[in-house]
Amino acid sequence: MTLPLHEPAIRIIGGQRLSGRIAISGAKNAALKLMAASLLTDQPLILDNVPQLLDTVTMAELLSHHGVTLNQQGNQWTMQATNVAPTDTCFDLVRTIRASIVLLGPLLARCGYVRLPFPGGDAIGNRKIDYHLHGLQLLGAQVQFDDGFIMAEAPNGLHGATMHFPNVTVTGTENLLMAACLAKGTSVLHNVAREPEVGDLIACLNNMGARIEGAGSETLVIHGVDRLQGATHRVIPDRVETGTYAFAAAMTGGDLLLTGANPDHLHSELASLRAAGANVSIGAEGLRVTAADQALQGVDIITDPYPGFATDMQAQFMAMMTRAKGASLITETIYENRLRHVPELQKLGANITVHGQSALVRGVDQLHGAVVSATDIRASVSLVLAGLVAEGETWVQKPYHLDRGYEGLVEKLQSCHATIERVG
Ligand code: EPU
Repeated sequence: MTLPLHEPAIRIIGGQRLSGRIAISGAKNAALKLMAASLLTDQPLILDNVPQLLDTVTMAELLSHHGVTLNQQGNQWTMQATNVAPTDTCFDLVRTIRASIVLLGPLLARCGYVRLPFPGGDAIGNRKIDYHLHGLQLLGAQVQFDDGFIMAEAPNGLHGATMHFPNVTVTGTENLLMAACLAKGTSVLHNVAREPEVGDLIACLNNMGARIEGAGSETLVIHGVDRLQGATHRVIPDRVETGTYAFAAAMTGGDLLLTGANPDHLHSELASLRAAGANVSIGAEGLRVTAADQALQGVDIITDPYPGFATDMQAQFMAMMTRAKGASLITETIYENRLRHVPELQKLGANITVHGQSALVRGVDQLHGAVVSATDIRASVSLVLAGLVAEGETWVQKPYHLDRGYEGLVEKLQSCHATIERVG
């Protein structure tokens, strides 16, 4: 194998059983939207438990282009949007982060006008934003496109409306929610996303003085208010990070205590983990996952919006299944292009056949180290998991994908006896 010594990578020597404790960080996909919510008030929004990630730092930089100041004390981030600029956005930054789309609703609601580049993000599918734009139009905005930019204008302010999302969208729900908070009158959103991160945003917005009813259900009712105020809010624990380390514990025949995790946010994933043969117990400190060496069985999963099995944990579950006994049929229903980790797992010796949106994984006795690389956060971390059980050295290239979504990944795994390091 030719080692990519000149490029940054994560180097892993597989075969260690993980044991110890890992503190779960704040949820990336909650923090990013909570940060955007700071645009809705001129008062300070104090966010606790914000994960230090490439994506949260990028979001803070983006927000600074719109006039939001940040005072950072460790994981407590205080954001204040005293004067907001609805157009001053750095094209390159927006292209790197899909969640930039959630600036649209708050900026429009606060300023009556917004001009943003189309968002970027992972290469996992088409990732349309038509529901976001249609919803804003229903709230009274005129939407136009110009040379890669979205422009939305509501000179007379936004007004309450009813929207039925044709399919569940997380950021679409969050965008309309934030816009509707400051609209005149009542809005009703049907078929909304019920992901815990949406619930976290609702809790924070209500803390800021919004009047949102129906959290956790398929319908949200938002009574618009004239203004929102500052608040203090703690970001929920990251369920995807939790699931990732839970699978890592099970596949290495390990024993991990995931402190601060909220198991209520992972019902489907933990049910599948138990079905595969791991022991999962819930205590006062968090979630404990143990498994005997190579004791896992193949289990089928289908991704679905929450409370279904999260697409953001599909790649990691697949990595776990590569060495299970028997077969596992893994079906991706959220994104049309989220099986791109398959060829990389195959380089490590996995036996996987893809049929449309499904991957049939036949467990093998042993994976073997290789040089691999992926194009999104979750695919990248699935390769790290596979590397933990592969014989020999695995090099996972493009580690910035991991830095986008996993706080202290290398250090957390090292502290649990993994042989892993960052090189280059
Ligand atoms: N969709 C449309 N039209 C829209 C919006 C969405 O057709 O207007 C489709 C998308 O093309 C996709 C599906 O609906 O096929 C779901 O997309 P959704 O809008 O729910 O995804 P998102 O809000 O862009 C968030 C997370 C993703 C996570 C998905 C699904 C953030 C910043 N991102 O994306 O997280 O996979 O929800 O749960 O919250 C990750 O963290 O690695 C990640 C990709």
